[in-house]
Amino acid sequence: MAATDLERFSNAEPEPRSLSLGGHVGFDSLPDQLVSKSVTQGFSFNILCVGETGIGKSTLMNTLFNTTFETEEASHHEACVHLRPQTYDLQESNVQLKLTIVDAVGFGDQINKDESYRPIVDYIDAQFENYLQEELKIRRSLFDYHDTRIHVCLYFITPTGHSLKSLDLVTMKKLDSKVNIIPIIAKADTISKSELHKFKIKIMGELVSNGVQIYQFPTDDEAVAEINAVMNAHLPFAVVGSTEEVKVGNKLVRARQYPWGVVQVENENHCDFVKLREMLIRVNMEDLREQTHSRHYELYRRCKLEEMGFQDSDGDSQPFSLQETYEAKRKEFLSELQRKEEEMRQMFVNKVKETELELKEKERELHEKFEHLKRVHQEEKRKVEEKRRELEEETNAFNRRKAAVEALQSQALHATSQQPLRKDKDKKKASGWSSIYSVTIP
Ligand code: GTP
Ligand code: MG
Repeated sequence: MAATDLERFSNAEPEPRSLSLGGHVGFDSLPDQLVSKSVTQGFSFNILCVGETGIGKSTLMNTLFNTTFETEEASHHEACVHLRPQTYDLQESNVQLKLTIVDAVGFGDQINKDESYRPIVDYIDAQFENYLQEELKIRRSLFDYHDTRIHVCLYFITPTGHSLKSLDLVTMKKLDSKVNIIPIIAKADTISKSELHKFKIKIMGELVSNGVQIYQFPTDDEAVAEINAVMNAHLPFAVVGSTEEVKVGNKLVRARQYPWGVVQVENENHCDFVKLREMLIRVNMEDLREQTHSRHYELYRRCKLEEMGFQDSDGDSQPFSLQETYEAKRKEFLSELQRKEEEMRQMFVNKVKETELELKEKERELHEKFEHLKRVHQEEKRKVEEKRRELEEETNAFNRRKAAVEALQSQALHATSQQPLRKDKDKKKASGWSSIYSVTIP
């Protein structure tokens, strides 16, 4: 077959033709097959809670899932924000849900909040990276892989009634391209109805003017378009959390009881808790998972692969070839390696030269020192030699004087023994000798 024929064959996309079936074939059971497969497989859903310490994150999670997750109170003295994930296996009817709740512990507690968003962004990226690494494995097992990518970020806003804090705006801005953000006004029972209405409008205005993209409930599926459109207008949801049960009329309801009355968590006139639960769990959980995969993860994957040098087409708009990209990267890597090797060799040679020079300088210094010491030593030696000569001369002089004295003494003794009778005369002589003696000996 000629090359042009081959091209035509591979590029040909025949228009699909509609045909009518003669009877029931059975592929209308495909959706049921999917449902059954998903139910067997189970689902995972990961929620990230970002909000100041004590804003009511744990209470809201307990209220949402109607259970008590083991959480301890966070310290207010964390040096930086850290992420604490906790995974739970939940079951409702025959559906298994692996729920991970990630708490941004210590958020907003630091004096310098410039980098408060960074650990959160890093955590989200790390989960994307784990998934990408699994995808790129030769033997990948995405089927039973525990997907830890964050599907939704519940951003807890403090019910000040004024405006968003700059920390909230900065954090949401940094997160909006990485995760689906649903902003919620926490502890909504602490703000009056009219204030809450104004506060909601103000928050939405600020988010829009700062270009923060929050998650919009999808309106492209007819079945849920209407309710989702209505709910989009209610954002941010003002919620109240409580696991305490209070008797209202003859019913036990979850509520917060105050001296002046009872705030019922599931009463839509009191707060938006039910709206949040409906939207988050009952209506849009699958869309949140889908958006995470097709929008946020896809963006991360694209940036990462581009960073690694992969492109969908080369400069001449030729289709992407993994083999060619691999070869090009390999060449690039080898030449980089060679360049680094040469750089290191040159560095080594320079270092050796420098050391050699240093050693030579040291040797010269030592030599000079040695010469100096030698001169000093010779001078000392000469002085000692002179001293020795002087001492020798002195000793000789002394010895000569000693010998003379001894000779005189022996003569005197000899004379005394020869003339014993001339005592007086001798005495005179002896005194005369002693006077000589006393004069001669220095
Ligand atoms: P850390 O995990 O320590 O950061 O706290 P948290 O954000 O998980 O807050 P938590 O749920 O522990 O609640 C802190 C306090 O706020 C508790 O005393 C709750 O009873 C109270 N609280 C929680 N939700 C609400 C609410 O909706 N309204 C009011 N008024 N108080 C609430
Ligand atoms: Mg908590």
